[in-house]
Amino acid sequence: MAIDQILFIDAAVSPASRTRRLAQALLSTLSGVVTTRHLEELSLKSLDFAAISKRMQDIERQDYQDYSLAKEFADADVIVLCVPFYDCSFPSLLKVYLENIYVMGLVTSFSPEGRPIGLCKAKKLYYVSTSGGPFDPRYGYDYWKTLCQDYFGIQEVELISVEMIDVFPDKAERILLDKIHEITHR
Ligand SMILES: Cc1cc2nc3c(=O)[nH]c(=O)nc-3n(C[C@H](O)[C@H](O)[C@H](O)COP(=O)(O)O)c2cc1C
Repeated sequence: MAIDQILFIDAAVSPASRTRRLAQALLSTLSGVVTTRHLEELSLKSLDFAAISKRMQDIERQDYQDYSLAKEFADADVIVLCVPFYDCSFPSLLKVYLENIYVMGLVTSFSPEGRPIGLCKAKKLYYVSTSGGPFDPRYGYDYWKTLCQDYFGIQEVELISVEMIDVFPDKAERILLDKIHEITHR
């Protein structure tokens, strides 16, 4: 049987990230080869006009040699996103990553009628998050779920999250450990 290629996209910035602890607990339950992309270390740039113009030319010529992150995303069998809850959404680092991988012809394409056709291989994407207060899925998880299912072709999307960990700091470690236990014993 083929070995799964697991892509771990880490959008956390804190060395003691609680979200990363949850994501690592999940990774310990998955079988496959893990490639980690710690977004802070990639020094990605948001798309400026020059980058957009180059991309449009490259797509026109089907020249995808400069888009290794997009190819890696499209080729992964399983994707794990480590996403702290920021400003009712997700860290801007992850949006910049998304801009960098959202390459027409690699992760998505369009039918002659203009309908999106997902080109990603992944059978599942996990969205792992922690939030200081109440977790609201609408502007982060729901958005990624829509992208995955409607544009990337990744049908199975699962949210793993814990909330309120800054509201009850004395209970934070317990909340986290309970969730880690739940993840590793399911
Ligand atoms: C820039 C920033 C924005 C945040 N925004 C929110 C927020 O909108 N709602 C919330 O409940 N917690 C918010 N928090 C708290 C984090 O979600 C919480 O501390 C989370 O556990 C951080 O994850 P980490 O330990 O993996 O870095 C924010 C924290 C930071 C640093």
